[in-house]
Amino acid sequence: MSKIISVHSFRGGTGKSNTTANIATLLAAQGKRVGVIDTDIQSPGIHILFNLHEDEMKYSLNDYLWGKCEIKQTAHDVTKKLGTNIPGEVLVIPRGQVFLIPSSIKVGEIARVLREGYDVGLLNDGFHKLVDELELDVLMIDTHPGLNEETLLSIAISDALIIIMRPDQQDFQGTGVTVEVARKLDVPRMVLVVNKTPPSADFNDVKKRVEQTYNCPVAAILPHSDEMMLLASSGVFVLHYPNHPITQSLKNVVDMVMA
Ligand SMILES: Nc1ncnc2c1ncn2[C@@H]1O[C@H](COP(=O)(O)OP(=O)(O)OP(=O)(O)O)[C@@H](O)[C@H]1O
Ligand SMILES: [Mg+2]
Repeated sequence: MSKIISVHSFRGGTGKSNTTANIATLLAAQGKRVGVIDTDIQSPGIHILFNLHEDEMKYSLNDYLWGKCEIKQTAHDVTKKLGTNIPGEVLVIPRGQVFLIPSSIKVGEIARVLREGYDVGLLNDGFHKLVDELELDVLMIDTHPGLNEETLLSIAISDALIIIMRPDQQDFQGTGVTVEVARKLDVPRMVLVVNKTPPSADFNDVKKRVEQTYNCPVAAILPHSDEMMLLASSGVFVLHYPNHPITQSLKNVVDMVMA
């Protein structure tokens, strides 16, 4: 059975794209066929983590939404790009495959979506076609922060939702909104990930507080990490740091959403 997993946060910059890329890579390392779709059409970015350059994107999600190509043509196999140019450290060798469906980074194409919009129903068809035509085990959806049409759609059709938040009062309130929406949409599985936690914080206390606030399991409390900052989205963290505690915590997230 294939699964659709959305990664969302109410506010921006929480770590959605990095978490999505890392979880996709961990799944591929288990031998899974994984699709990663960038539905953050207003401000796409996850292609950077997979080293997919603009001139390699023959077709993007935008082209599909404007009827210029089939959704399958927007999928780029980025498996070979994983794990290249990594000095030192033992590599997690991905046995599976990762396909990236990028959103366009061209100014005119971003502007056109904002100006004209698109048929969200087509996006829904696209998700399901990707799963079928690429024979995916998992489709991961990286989203734009906050609630908009494509986010609501992705939450509604997901088998699992990962909500990322920082231990910050603004995130606390916003996350409550997302949790409420996801409950109304009957998402079968929902987990929270607290990211960028100050290393000096009491992690058990944060976990307890967050679980009590939302009545929802916390799959991981991730520290704010210098290694993650230094990597600066130039690659996938779990490949660079296969033995890091963050990698271990991300594996726990995979186990929880795939269970
Ligand atoms: N645990 C962490 N420690 C330190 N820096 C982190 C951590 N997680 C993510 N970052 C950094 O935070 C920034 C934002 O991460 P990312 O792009 O994954 O967030 P996002 O939620 O997808 O953002 P957006 O809402 O803009 O799409 C990046 O510079 C990333 O390297
Ligand atoms: Mg992002």
